Amino acid sequence: MMNFVPPAPYQIRQYREIDSTQEEARRLLAQDVPGWTIVLANRQTGGRGRFGRPWASPEGNLYMTLILRPRPGQPPVGTAIGLANLCVGLAVAEAALVLAPDAPLALKWPNDLLLDGAKMCGILSELVQVPHADPALLIGIGVNLAHHPDGLAYRAAHLGQVLEGNPAPHMFLDAMLPILSQRLGVFLVEGFEPLRTEYLARLAFRGEAVRIALDAERTHFTEGVLSGIDRHGRLVLAGPDGEQVISAGDVTTF
Ligand code: BTN
Repeated sequence: MMNFVPPAPYQIRQYREIDSTQEEARRLLAQDVPGWTIVLANRQTGGRGRFGRPWASPEGNLYMTLILRPRPGQPPVGTAIGLANLCVGLAVAEAALVLAPDAPLALKWPNDLLLDGAKMCGILSELVQVPHADPALLIGIGVNLAHHPDGLAYRAAHLGQVLEGNPAPHMFLDAMLPILSQRLGVFLVEGFEPLRTEYLARLAFRGEAVRIALDAERTHFTEGVLSGIDRHGRLVLAGPDGEQVISAGDVTTF
């Protein structure tokens, strides 16, 4: 990895309770905090997921937002928004495997980590405009370690279910931060291609027939056999009419 440039050290801002680490990251950006700042909270009162859904945030799980800001010579982070999700998902999966080496984990493209088919982690990437500076990328990570919600439209799980006890959030963070630095460091310099093989190895539903919702309202769908991920991080589906490449969508099986 000749071109690997380690990122600046993280600066961690820790809160006992906050509305949402994403919101706090926005407030901190208005004060011009540097890139690689991490906002960490024991619990959130207004945690949110994709499509404005609430994200239940009781104490015991990991709630954090990583602020990425472009550095001179780097492409604007906005160009990386989708792909950074994939890198972060990979880092979360690898950290979970440090703590639970035999856990049946798989990455559900593009944003989720599944434990035995149930959602264990969600990632929310948001691009934020910053006055007089380039936009910043906020990567929100919620990892279910000790609790998971029931009664959602999908099954959820927490990592403690496959361990003797629930791992503490700081243990998970300690395992994840070096991996996250390495993965994002490679990605920001070389792009997604060097990470593609590892992502593919952990990709859920590979070789299976899948249905992809193409919009948040779930009115447009496409179907095919999930055959892989291309070098731009897009999902590749095989079907009777050839290959389709999907840039955004929500994957379900039949
Ligand atoms: C999803 O819908 O799957 C994404 C969930 C993202 C949740 C995390 S928890 C830390 C950060 N703060 C939030 O309010 N949301 C993200």
